[in-house]
Amino acid sequence: MKDSFNRSINYVRIGVTDRCNLRCFYCMPKEGVPYEPSAHLLSYEEITRLLNVLGNLGFNKVRFTGGEPFLRKDFMTLLEKTYTLDQYPDIRITTNGTLMTKQIPKLKEMGITKLNLSLDSLDAKRFKKITRRDDFDKVMSTFYTLLKEGFKLKINAVVMNDINTEDIIPLVGLAKQYPVSVRFIEEMPFNGGYKKNKTVFKATDIYNTIIKKYPDFHKKEGKHGDTATSYRIDGFLGDVGIIPAFSRTFCNTCNRLRITAKGDIKSCLYDSGVFNIRDFMRSGVTDKELTEKFVELVKLKPENGFVAEKMKNTKHDHLESMSVIGG
Ligand code: 5AD
Ligand code: SF4
Repeated sequence: MKDSFNRSINYVRIGVTDRCNLRCFYCMPKEGVPYEPSAHLLSYEEITRLLNVLGNLGFNKVRFTGGEPFLRKDFMTLLEKTYTLDQYPDIRITTNGTLMTKQIPKLKEMGITKLNLSLDSLDAKRFKKITRRDDFDKVMSTFYTLLKEGFKLKINAVVMNDINTEDIIPLVGLAKQYPVSVRFIEEMPFNGGYKKNKTVFKATDIYNTIIKKYPDFHKKEGKHGDTATSYRIDGFLGDVGIIPAFSRTFCNTCNRLRITAKGDIKSCLYDSGVFNIRDFMRSGVTDKELTEKFVELVKLKPENGFVAEKMKNTKHDHLESMSVIGG
């Protein structure tokens, strides 16, 4: 399905909850964000209905995010229902890795083996400073278990000036030892607080840090819609990606649509939620009407994240939280 800038939109990211058991400071203030009551969230039946409609429009890639998706009580039911839809050969999940190891057998049964794991530091103290929780050992143990179980892992590390730039090289080291993709992400202004992201460490600085240590840091051919520029280093089992999430240099190949846990459609990370699909569905619309609505919404997708940011129609007195947007 094409948008107005001739981009193929085939990838939907669904936030299944705005709740999280961690408090990563780039995502939430320490007191958390006001959570939506569960009746305000899209139910798993509503989500699978949306996925089916989108699948018939040519969407074939889905990622469930949060908050922390495994906090949602019926998340496994949602996965089971999604698994029965044939439009989505791969179901992907982004998780903080603190609550999910007991679900590994079920995930494998459904062929769900592609996970993004958030891990911003390999130092327990810095991990605690960033996430405001003491779960480093748990996340590392999840990492090793998932590797052993054959999962294909991407490690998401948000890089922040003066906070965890020392972790860049150790994290690159994970890709040396293990067949994982380590992706460094620029910090975006979605921390749910009142302060802008003052600790942005630019993609170019991340690149320069790595190439200084590894001069044979080579760019790889990317896949369509990738937000990460991928690199390989000779002799490494895995690879490294850099995601200019704040510089927004990848918008011209964007292939995604986001749906927040309460049903706001975001055609861009930086927009303010263009339409609430939950209320629309709950008003009793048919699948045909839903389909037409999505066609209309995809056409409204802004050209890039700068345009989207400028179009924001509400003046927020605090910034949005990534746990609400759906990471
Ligand atoms: N900037 C950049 N990345 C963020 N994430 C969460 N908040 C931000 C932010 N403000 C990332 C986390 C997580 C993914 C869902 O989104 O690293 O892995
Ligand atoms: Fe939770 Fe992820 Fe936000 Fe951290 S970044 S608080 S793990 S939702």
